[in-house]
Amino acid sequence: MRHFGRANMWLVPASLGLATLAVVLLRWPRGPLWAALLLVVAWVWAVRYVLASRREARFLTESVIQLKDTVDRWASGDLLARVYLDQDDPLDSLAHGMNRVAEVLMERTRDLEQDKKQLEAILTSMANGIMILNHGLTITLVNRAALSMFRIQEPSVTGRHLLEVLRDVKIDDAVHRVTREGGSETVYWSPPDNESVVVEVTIGAIPEPLGGLGAVMVSRDVSLQSQLDRMRQDFVANVSHELQTPLTIIRGFTETLLEEDIDDESRERFTRLIHEEASRMSRLVDDLLTLSRMEHHSLPFVVEGVDLTVLMDSVIARMLPRAEAQGLLLVNRMPASLPLVSGDPDRLQEVFLNLVQNAVQYTPSGGTVTISAEEDVHQDRIGVSVEDTGIGIPAADLPRIFERFYRVDKARSRASGGTGLGLAIVKHIIELHHGRIDVSSVVGQGTRFQVWLPIYHEPGGSEP
Ligand SMILES: Nc1ncnc2c1ncn2[C@@H]1O[C@H](COP(=O)(O)OP(=O)(O)OP(=O)(O)O)[C@@H](O)[C@H]1O
Ligand SMILES: [Mg+2]
Repeated sequence: MRHFGRANMWLVPASLGLATLAVVLLRWPRGPLWAALLLVVAWVWAVRYVLASRREARFLTESVIQLKDTVDRWASGDLLARVYLDQDDPLDSLAHGMNRVAEVLMERTRDLEQDKKQLEAILTSMANGIMILNHGLTITLVNRAALSMFRIQEPSVTGRHLLEVLRDVKIDDAVHRVTREGGSETVYWSPPDNESVVVEVTIGAIPEPLGGLGAVMVSRDVSLQSQLDRMRQDFVANVSHELQTPLTIIRGFTETLLEEDIDDESRERFTRLIHEEASRMSRLVDDLLTLSRMEHHSLPFVVEGVDLTVLMDSVIARMLPRAEAQGLLLVNRMPASLPLVSGDPDRLQEVFLNLVQNAVQYTPSGGTVTISAEEDVHQDRIGVSVEDTGIGIPAADLPRIFERFYRVDKARSRASGGTGLGLAIVKHIIELHHGRIDVSSVVGQGTRFQVWLPIYHEPGGSEP
């Protein structure tokens, strides 16, 4: 048990009292003896007081050192450090207070760390890119999605200036405006080498703790959406254009017919032309409806075993008159018997009619159109080829011929009444059959389309 200053304070007046008494006693006969005794006691008490005071000073110094050490450990991040003093130490209540502060600090730090971890998890798992910039446009936080969207290779960009990391004038200007004037702005960004990738970047102002405005950049990959928008706009423009031409012709001829002074021969010719254009519009609308129904899976579609040899016989029979009229040779090289393929006979007929029609249409007189088939045992499928010796398709156009309305030679296709939807429909139907279509062509020599269809197996599992 320590005894501190106040407990020993009585020693001072007590020693002085004894010393005074000793002086008084000196006058008495046996006084010197008593006086000496009292002086010894006063001296002992005085020494005791001095020793107690020195010890107290030493203890206080130790406590202050302990407190300081603990504060140092907190400052270096060790919030588990605690200071324990004796109960009667005058600094004990301060130590208790400090320990309580440390507890509260620890709790807050735990909460903050938890919040930080949650925020990091949210940012990492977000599909949207997030980048936070301070007023000086230094990156203070960025998530993985933002790094990959902006094609940023460096692993660590925090602490660097936005312009160093993302050299884009549009984004830089927008961020400057937002951090100067507040509010938010949206800009679109594409990598310099790939215009088809579109990232929507929304920049919003965020107040900085010490005044001024920083910015948060939220980025979203909208490539697919903008591609769909572009396709929709192209489609509407194409349909309008395709309908406008026959409509203009029909209107022109009807206006002429309405005039009184027109001879019978011209009347008949104009009426025929009007009929042709109306038929073309009707075909176009039919093709569009077929495509739309296929896309919405509302086109009746049956799956059964289809004999391609029989099917191709019927296609050739239908196309033969036209081929002969054009001076073409239509050669049937289909094997006499083939495994059945799995599909809808009407839809498959449509596919091969389209392909043979194209071959006939794009092959000049004197050419040949050959139809053949082969079995691919490994992949359990049959491949039917329609090959012509026609005008061919330039390599640059080959990847696009299955797009709606795409025609290599627009004038030629239109002149023959084509809508430019034939191959788009063919491709759709083949995809519905889980098949594939390949094309190879040499300009001036000919084209070969090959359609692969899965071999049919009875639902029970036995071979047909
Ligand atoms: N066998 C072929 N030889 C040469 N070019 C072809 C051949 N088949 C298709 N093409 C080209 O591909 C384009 C697209 O063909 P697609 O069948 O989709 O349209 P189309 O024949 O013009 O009209 P339609 O919708 O009436 O069939 C054609 O315009 C033509 O340029
Ligand atoms: Mg066609």
